[in-house]
Amino acid sequence: MESSENITMQKISKPKKFTTKEEFVRDVLIGLQSNPKKLSSKYFYDEKGDKLFQEIMNLEEYYLTNCEYEILNTHKSAILELFESNNRPFQLIELGAGDGLKTKVLLQEFSNNKAHFEYSPIDISPHVLQTLTNDLQQLLPNLKVKSFQGDYFKALAATKRQNGWRKVVLFLGSNIGNFSIEQTHNFLTKIKDLLSPGDLLFIGFDLKKEPEVILSAYNDKKGVTRAFNLNLLSRINAELDGNFDLNKFEHYPVYDPQSGECRSYLVSKENQQVRLEALEETISFHKWESIHTEISRKFSTKEIHELAERSGFKLLENFYDSKGFFVDSVWLKK
Ligand code: AVI
Repeated sequence: MESSENITMQKISKPKKFTTKEEFVRDVLIGLQSNPKKLSSKYFYDEKGDKLFQEIMNLEEYYLTNCEYEILNTHKSAILELFESNNRPFQLIELGAGDGLKTKVLLQEFSNNKAHFEYSPIDISPHVLQTLTNDLQQLLPNLKVKSFQGDYFKALAATKRQNGWRKVVLFLGSNIGNFSIEQTHNFLTKIKDLLSPGDLLFIGFDLKKEPEVILSAYNDKKGVTRAFNLNLLSRINAELDGNFDLNKFEHYPVYDPQSGECRSYLVSKENQQVRLEALEETISFHKWESIHTEISRKFSTKEIHELAERSGFKLLENFYDSKGFFVDSVWLKK
């Protein structure tokens, strides 16, 4: 545990069952031996993947980040009113805080208004948390930051409630869209179970819209998203001594307007065999066989209402950007 006057960082241990590397090996092997083949998008985010995702967020086609930034900027004072409802102190807990670029808009507003709150960013990466807390110390030296490194739910459970304070959980950036339906329900139910009546969840959803707009966001002209998807194969090459030839795979996203799923694939351009030397395994691909790598789900407002009710929350308010592309939804734990 590190600490200075206003900043503390607590490490929350990883589940004992698997180390990260064992989990990666297991998931890659099961995924590539399945029919159809799949790999989890959670493995996009190695050092290079993190950088590529930063680049994606700055792309013109990737509207999500700008839309959410606009929402937070436009509605920051209404958001504070909801969070502190009648000057109640609150613990602002952010799941997957990252570089906190969007959150800083809120933190600045709350601090300017002398709101009574503390900020607890939670992230798996110690490096990310350290950078964020250093940044915040410069930007808002009086802000109390108690960060937690590790598993979201363990960290959320470890955030001790101060007497009379409400917890407000932030889950920004459409991260919820990367879950399957089942994972979405499990995730929201687990959060609800860790909160008390009166606590809030502030959660970002990308909305269903013109299919072409969505597809371009996942197939940008500069090819950054292509590189991001293919980086999964580079990561396997580097960590499992594999020999994937990236030129022999195509990045292919599709959007289904009914389910709202934008699904990304890597498609094999030829019959080929790939050796994973560290696992002493060979994986065969038929020409045009694919690996499913990511779901980025888009929602309707009706679906968001249903999701809130089903997981034990009451939807209090939706904040939209001016184009109506994205929504930050505020849910009250009943
Ligand atoms: C992190 N997540 C919300 C992004 C998304 O839009 O699904 C990841 C991403 N994949 C391709 N581009 C961005």
